Amino acid sequence: MNCNSFTSNGEICGLKCRGLHLVGDWSSWWGGVQMGPPDPILGVTEAFKRDTNPKKMNLGVGAYRDDQGKPFVLSCVRKAEALIAAKQLDKEYLPIGGLGEFNKACAQLALGDNNEVLKSSRSITVQTISGTGSLRIGANFLSRFHGGPLDVYLPKPSWGNHTPIFRDAGMQLKAYRYYDPSTCGFDFKGALEDISKIPEQSVILLHACAHNPTGVDPRPEQWKEIADIVKKRNLLPFFDMAYQGFASGDIDRDAWAVRYFIEQGHDIVLSQSFAKNMGLYGERVGGFTVVCKDADEAKRVESQLKILIRPIYSNPPMNGARIATTILNTPDLRSLWLEEVHGMANRIIKMREQLVAGLKKQGSSHNWQHVIDQIGMFCFTGLKPEQVERLTKEYSVYMTKDGRISMAGVTSGNVGYLAQAIHEVTK
Ligand SMILES: Cc1ncc(COP(=O)(O)O)c(C=O)c1O
Repeated sequence: MNCNSFTSNGEICGLKCRGLHLVGDWSSWWGGVQMGPPDPILGVTEAFKRDTNPKKMNLGVGAYRDDQGKPFVLSCVRKAEALIAAKQLDKEYLPIGGLGEFNKACAQLALGDNNEVLKSSRSITVQTISGTGSLRIGANFLSRFHGGPLDVYLPKPSWGNHTPIFRDAGMQLKAYRYYDPSTCGFDFKGALEDISKIPEQSVILLHACAHNPTGVDPRPEQWKEIADIVKKRNLLPFFDMAYQGFASGDIDRDAWAVRYFIEQGHDIVLSQSFAKNMGLYGERVGGFTVVCKDADEAKRVESQLKILIRPIYSNPPMNGARIATTILNTPDLRSLWLEEVHGMANRIIKMREQLVAGLKKQGSSHNWQHVIDQIGMFCFTGLKPEQVERLTKEYSVYMTKDGRISMAGVTSGNVGYLAQAIHEVTK
């Protein structure tokens, strides 16, 4: 049917555009395709690349850098790669749900080796295309099988990709209060108020640790109250754990909320990524787990996850999963990994402290304590859009407009310059 609504030009569209008003030159197949907006984060990188200032800093991207500002490949990864290469393994397809050993190790890492859920086989984990792929498989699964409302409640704000992931899977997006700009901290009261009003059986998305973009996490006693309300409202908790180990440097501490919810009887769903904690960004290693009522339910869920995955990408890539499994299952490499993940987290914590010390040294009269209190790769500075613009224009410091900086891009060499620049625009 031809569209009879008005386009932005005030004309009747008249095309078979499915409501999208694909106005344009229809003399070719794609003449009606309009230019989409650039990705807000990758757009920052493009502008950074064009800048010729030798002092320029890219604080937009969420990938770890070492203290020289260089991409960092963990030694445990290099060693695992050498072990794998020596085995001369084949390159056959993996099963639809991925590498079995990986799925086991991935779930153990999140839930803890002795978790009752694992012992009773009442969960199912499939290997996914990193955290994004995991969230999307999860969203597709919910959209197809969730018996409650197809509403997913995201913290406000949340990682920018959560919205299109759930929306494209056919879920409705809603929000609950999370960040309090007046304290640059967690809006605990607001979050509880909003969560207590979420219609029963809806889905609530929770960042397990190192909330992106704010770097603000609930404290354990706050998580306990959240778990209580989520239980009372009978909500389905969807945990996104993209930074296990990266937040505090301790993989168990960072998984605390996930494990606590399970202990309290929540049958959660969980996305995991090995992009950050193993530095396997481009290898695309992740897992999606559904905790079920019993082993029989888990088997049925598994069968449907496979049916979902098969027509999307058939089966996941093997290389990264082999690397992650080798690290997790080889005691020496696992200890080395734990040391290295601790080292990455610590470097970031140190940069937070040095940035605040630098701001004090510059004579800043503002309270920057939130920069230290926030956790993980990102810091929500509280800088206003016009201050961000000045930082970029006058100091070549690049970040997203919301004032988020990736602490991973800060080094001993440039932290002083950053402090000076921030002080100049916030005087
Ligand atoms: C909160 C959150 N979830 C998921 C992801 C997924 O990342 P990836 O697909 O690279 O594993 C990210 C990455 O930035 C993230 O910040």
